[in-house]
Amino acid sequence: MPETFYITTPIYYVNARPHLGHAYTTIIADVVCRFHSMRGAQTFFLTGTDEHGDKIIRSAKNEGLSPREYVDKISGLYRSLWPELNIRYNKFIRTTDPNHIAVVEQVLQKIYDAGDIYYSEYEGKYCFGCERFYTDRELVEGKCPDHQTTPEVIKESNYFFRMSRYQDWLIQHIEKHPDFIRPERYKNEVLAFLREPLEDLCISRPKARLKWGITLPFDKDYVTYVWFDALLNYVSAMGYPDGELFKKFWPHVQHVVAKDILKPHGIYWPLMLKAAGIPLYNHLNVHGYWNVNESKMSKSLGNVADPLQLKNIYGLDAFRFFLLRDMVFGLDSGFSEDALIRRINADLANDLGNLFSRVLAMTHKYFKGIVPEADPVMEAELHFGLKADALKAIEEFEAEMEVFGFHKALMAVWEFISRMNKYIDVTAPWVLAKQKSSRKQLEAVIYHLLEGLRIVSGLIYPIMPGTAITMQKHLGADPETPFYQLDTLKAWKSLKPGTQLPKSTALFPRIDVKKTGGAKPAPETEKPAEIRPEISIETLGKIDLRVATVVKAEEIPRAKKLIKLEVDMGEKRTIVAGIAESYTPQEMVGKQVIVVANLKPAKLMGILSEGMLLAAVDDEGCTVATLDKKVKPGTRLS
Ligand code: MSP
Repeated sequence: MPETFYITTPIYYVNARPHLGHAYTTIIADVVCRFHSMRGAQTFFLTGTDEHGDKIIRSAKNEGLSPREYVDKISGLYRSLWPELNIRYNKFIRTTDPNHIAVVEQVLQKIYDAGDIYYSEYEGKYCFGCERFYTDRELVEGKCPDHQTTPEVIKESNYFFRMSRYQDWLIQHIEKHPDFIRPERYKNEVLAFLREPLEDLCISRPKARLKWGITLPFDKDYVTYVWFDALLNYVSAMGYPDGELFKKFWPHVQHVVAKDILKPHGIYWPLMLKAAGIPLYNHLNVHGYWNVNESKMSKSLGNVADPLQLKNIYGLDAFRFFLLRDMVFGLDSGFSEDALIRRINADLANDLGNLFSRVLAMTHKYFKGIVPEADPVMEAELHFGLKADALKAIEEFEAEMEVFGFHKALMAVWEFISRMNKYIDVTAPWVLAKQKSSRKQLEAVIYHLLEGLRIVSGLIYPIMPGTAITMQKHLGADPETPFYQLDTLKAWKSLKPGTQLPKSTALFPRIDVKKTGGAKPAPETEKPAEIRPEISIETLGKIDLRVATVVKAEEIPRAKKLIKLEVDMGEKRTIVAGIAESYTPQEMVGKQVIVVANLKPAKLMGILSEGMLLAAVDDEGCTVATLDKKVKPGTRLS
């Protein structure tokens, strides 16, 4: 029986255009799907867009479009981006699809009839940005941790999903299946959450407040909460409850999400499945954030990287490789074009690219491009454990890919690449080529190297499918066959002697840093900032600027941009400064800074800030103003 495999991405909100973060998740799903094809599995890959809710209405209004026109437009952007990134999904679902809506209605009715949805009046703190109620425990200093705004108190009657009923059952399930949520840190996060009493989930919104959603089948005055609607896409897309796809693939489903949506996927979704009588998913695979300057890449911060632009500058496979190789699945990673270029030059142009061109150049030079035949005796003599190393690389690759350890899987392949480069140095084919008597040795060495490249091309296939195909063509193999299948890769000596190889090609050109300024986002202000209106000397005199020495600095939990400073300016003061994206707390200690000392104190994240630092702010971040030699703390600037 062939293996069966079903993978999903989150369905993306259509209130923003796709960026590198969305591309990463979707590329991961593509890579994992291709990896399972390497095992001969039948695979299904689902992605799509999440199109209901307040956020969408607001974005549509901003663009002067009707909600329908707007969702069609942005959903189309996602749908057409994926093929550009060589992502081969099987189905693209939209929550506005009539089939999806019918399934949501059906599941709601089922859970309602079973008594797990009830009607009640509720007063709670509602964040409009997140479209949800917050408990006091979840708020930070009374504010939404994502939007840093004070939620509004709303009192209304709504429908609630009785999550609390299944809380103990979920804890037991997670404990019994330790890799249900992985990596482990996220399992622990969900368990920690479940150790506190679970409040029931408000799953409706009155139509008086929001119309853009799926009407509750048991109350026409309400629409469905967007998460309850969205999560069901994973089953509605497959034709739940009776569809063939559902029956075949659902038992093998795995989800991929980032940590921002751990709670809906780790708690709401399994509880919804349980209440609806649908078997649970097998694994929830959770990754970290791509950050830019230590902040999560997001539209609101304006620090997003455009995957298409990066692909056009650096090449698609190099871009895919970088994403998989540089991020440790589960942890955050910083994105920069410098890191991308370094990775391309070192791993792709140098290690893999050089090996490939060296081996092919030698095959052309010594054998007119015809794959030589390895004499069995010479083969044994000159083998130096290359086959064992190849099999070890395949084994490690397979084990790591299975558990989303992409960077380790690639490290195993690159270890083999470096092993092959060493094999060339040890066997020195150019020396063998000088003597006629070493011809058989030379044949065996080159054959081994070509075989090694064949295996490398198969192993890189899920991550760099285009490059794998190019390599296959240049090794004289048929790229139309499933050359990447693990069984084929493991069959050492598959290349056919006597095959004429086409002329060699460079796989990855080295990137000249000077020539690639293009991808950096254009600075927002090309002109210097405008000079503000004139003020009198008296007005200037009202601003009390003082020199202060930073004596202590610390991060503020959940406030990515802020640092809390203790300064000495003749007297001790606390200042909360928005400099965390440009400075670490340690860097600030000991600096002499300039403080606006008579600014009215203000509370930031619950801390009273008694002054403000002067700093220059540009596209690169901020640079704190300092003096060019030390002076007594508290000295006035004039
Ligand atoms: N619509 C919901 C998901 C519903 S699924 C039933 C949603 N949409 S989203 O557009 O906000 O997408 C969030 C997902 O986009 C993350 O979980 C992650 O997969 C991806 N990413 C968005 N920004 C990202 C980074 N900066 N880094 C890594 N992944 C990121 O939530």
